[in-house]
Amino acid sequence: MNNKIIWKLATGVLTLLLVMFIACNTPPEEPTDLTTTPFIPKPTSVTATAKSFHLDNRTGIEVQDATLEDLGNALANHLKAITKTDPVVSVNAGNPSGRSIHLSLAGAEDLGDQGYLLTIESGQIKLVANQPVGIYYGIQTLLQTLPPAGTPSEGPFIIPTGEIRDIPRFAYRGVMLDVARHFFSVEEVKKYIDILAEQKINYLHLHLTDDQGWRIEIKSWPELTATGGRLEVGGGPGGFYTQEDFKELIRYAGEHFITIVPEVDMPGHTNAALASYAELNCDGKARELYTGTEVGFSSLCVPKEITYQFVDDVVREIAALKPGPYFHLGGDESHSTGLPDFIKFVERVRGIVRSHGFIDIGWDETAQTELDNQSIIQLWASADFARKAADNGTKLIMSPATKTYLDMQYDSLTPLGLHWAAYIEVDDAYNWDPTTLFPGIGAEDIMGLEFPLWTETVTDLKDLEFMVYPRLLGLAEIAWSPKEGRNWNEYKDRLAQYVPRLDAQGINYYKSPKVDWPE
Ligand code: ACM
Repeated sequence: MNNKIIWKLATGVLTLLLVMFIACNTPPEEPTDLTTTPFIPKPTSVTATAKSFHLDNRTGIEVQDATLEDLGNALANHLKAITKTDPVVSVNAGNPSGRSIHLSLAGAEDLGDQGYLLTIESGQIKLVANQPVGIYYGIQTLLQTLPPAGTPSEGPFIIPTGEIRDIPRFAYRGVMLDVARHFFSVEEVKKYIDILAEQKINYLHLHLTDDQGWRIEIKSWPELTATGGRLEVGGGPGGFYTQEDFKELIRYAGEHFITIVPEVDMPGHTNAALASYAELNCDGKARELYTGTEVGFSSLCVPKEITYQFVDDVVREIAALKPGPYFHLGGDESHSTGLPDFIKFVERVRGIVRSHGFIDIGWDETAQTELDNQSIIQLWASADFARKAADNGTKLIMSPATKTYLDMQYDSLTPLGLHWAAYIEVDDAYNWDPTTLFPGIGAEDIMGLEFPLWTETVTDLKDLEFMVYPRLLGLAEIAWSPKEGRNWNEYKDRLAQYVPRLDAQGINYYKSPKVDWPE
């Protein structure tokens, strides 16, 4: 070979090596606009700074002090599930180190109790809040910048830089689950809690008793569960939570910054109790167990003293389990209790509930009583009752059945659910606002929103998921995000981009024709 050929070959090989070197070291197309990330619920404000943070095996998690260590470990576990890296959690009270995700508490007035500030720079991520719950919410948001856990992804894991300042619109963002019509096991409720936490829901109201079943162990009245917990709608086996089970639910929910609100529905919706104890009936005769779906036929006996001993025992035993500040006394659809008796009953039971240290919540019918402004009224059907409460300075939880009832069918073809209040398509659940729905009820009257799932037709977790998702995503956004700029067309694209997160968790959501789902 002459020199010329050798020279040509050598330069050719060198050029090839150079091209290969550049190709390997050129970063892939990077998503550097934080404002286009499909967050749900949408944060209060997002600004982008057009760079990126690379999450890799050099990324560590730093917490300001030991009080945040559990949250640091929880974040590490989430990141491990997504990226297969194993970030080290360390305490660092000083300035964040490079390449770290740094969690700290600060006295920042504008963030309130639940807000957070997430600052993503190319060298580090800082998450600041006033309370641990704010850090928890900031983590939920940060995780939405990454692929969902469980999807095979080799990375690179690139987070666009910018700043998210996020404060919830309403302090109380709840769901209700009816475990009385069909029973849901501790494991099923835990699975529901896992997904609720991702949408920053912070209250889980459990409707523990109804005509068809009594689902919480009361040691001083054991037949409530031995008899009253035996069946469910349709006649299948029911079930109940032991007090240990219930404590475990409270603990697990608490780990997800969710507070349990126990409901014992009274004086109507009580057939299961009336079947368990003859003495609770005015005629002294025990009722038959009931597995149908009619309402309004049962009542505790208002004139009998034993009724109040019973209520006191039930509330006392539940209070000892320390669920949180609220106790829901029901009070809906008590059609077989005369109005004077109903008022007498609710006023006396409210006193019992408060004597055990609880704040009382009642369905909107309970606003017919004498109200001080210490109770909370949950609007479901009657704006007039709720307005009476609001005029009195009593705070409202908004659960209008026509918008928030997750057991309502999407349309006439929906295989599960009911439609006595409305058909609620995914856009109907999103296109409304609690502050403008009813004349005379405004933002100043509203403590929060709650999204109930009644379970006459909902038998298991797959049914639950189908009725709840994707509607709950939009409802959670109404409860968390600013009203200004809320727009279905923008939201439905975000929703379509969000659903791989539901798919990754195997959630059986309803594929509404109103949304252009990804292929
Ligand atoms: C209710 O839906 N009966 C509160």
